[in-house]
Amino acid sequence: MIAMNKNQRMWLLPRLMELKHRSSLVKPLCRLALKSFFSHIRLHKPEDYFAAVTRSCGIVPRHSLSHYRNELLNDKLLKETYTGAIAAGKQKQKYADYEQRFHSVANIVHYYALLRELLPEYVIETGTATGSMTSWVLKALHENGRGRLISIDLPPIANRLTMDITVAPEEVGFLIPKEYRKQWDLRVGDAKVLLPKTLLDIPADVFIHDSLHTTTHMSFEYHTARALLKPNAVILSDDILWNRSWYQFLKTHNLKGLSCEDNANLGFTINRFDDFEKAEGLGVIEQI
Ligand SMILES: C[S@@+](CC[C@H](N)C(=O)[O-])C[C@H]1O[C@@H](n2cnc3c(N)ncnc32)[C@H](O)[C@@H]1O
Repeated sequence: MIAMNKNQRMWLLPRLMELKHRSSLVKPLCRLALKSFFSHIRLHKPEDYFAAVTRSCGIVPRHSLSHYRNELLNDKLLKETYTGAIAAGKQKQKYADYEQRFHSVANIVHYYALLRELLPEYVIETGTATGSMTSWVLKALHENGRGRLISIDLPPIANRLTMDITVAPEEVGFLIPKEYRKQWDLRVGDAKVLLPKTLLDIPADVFIHDSLHTTTHMSFEYHTARALLKPNAVILSDDILWNRSWYQFLKTHNLKGLSCEDNANLGFTINRFDDFEKAEGLGVIEQI
């Protein structure tokens, strides 16, 4: 196996996918490379991704992806909070205009459209920081009229824990409009302690990883979620290309991962179990 860093992997994956479709000469080579580097992942074109993810969840979508994109784009509270944070110098101006914030299909599917369709009772996420994506999750729960988000976060400090910004503890999630915080519980602390506790307390329908992106920590969160989430819960992860932990996780448990070409750094899978695991291995044994 050739060792690659995260930038190399992020560069290589979409290109291999592209080549695989194009040239008959390089097709077999690309297939081989994809198989060894990115086994267990199916990378979809943006126009197919929402359908692929919802199909995987056994859902026939009630609305189109553009309907959900418009819900986000036209939300006054999200816009006011985001542009207000930029004006106050708290948030970097990352896009030329506000609409650009909604350019990625993968982001809209993972952090909004899927949650609007699933109508989850509980979502658990690790990693909140400014609350950029968390604000979309909470907007989804608000629109659903049900559900709670439990976030586990250590407030970010620049140049520590893979972060490049500092956010004061009382400012965590400053991009989340006040009105959308009613369905939010923020638990401050290390996910290594709080994630197993929270997963044992709360029967989450969806788990989202976006905290510390080291191999050890990502592996810890994926495997903990796998063991403690209920069958068929959805597992989402940001930054899957930083290291091989997501691929190793999918491979170990023979799970099928889906990603989208416009942001191959996001991963989706479902916590599926075979019959033997279902019969013998699930649940927490409190007494023998
Ligand atoms: C990439 S940011 C999260 C971004 C956020 N999801 C968003 O949508 O804007 C990662 C966050 O995880 C936090 N973090 C890092 N290590 C952690 C750990 N062990 N437990 C909990 N949070 C952690 C960081 O301090 C930071 O706040």
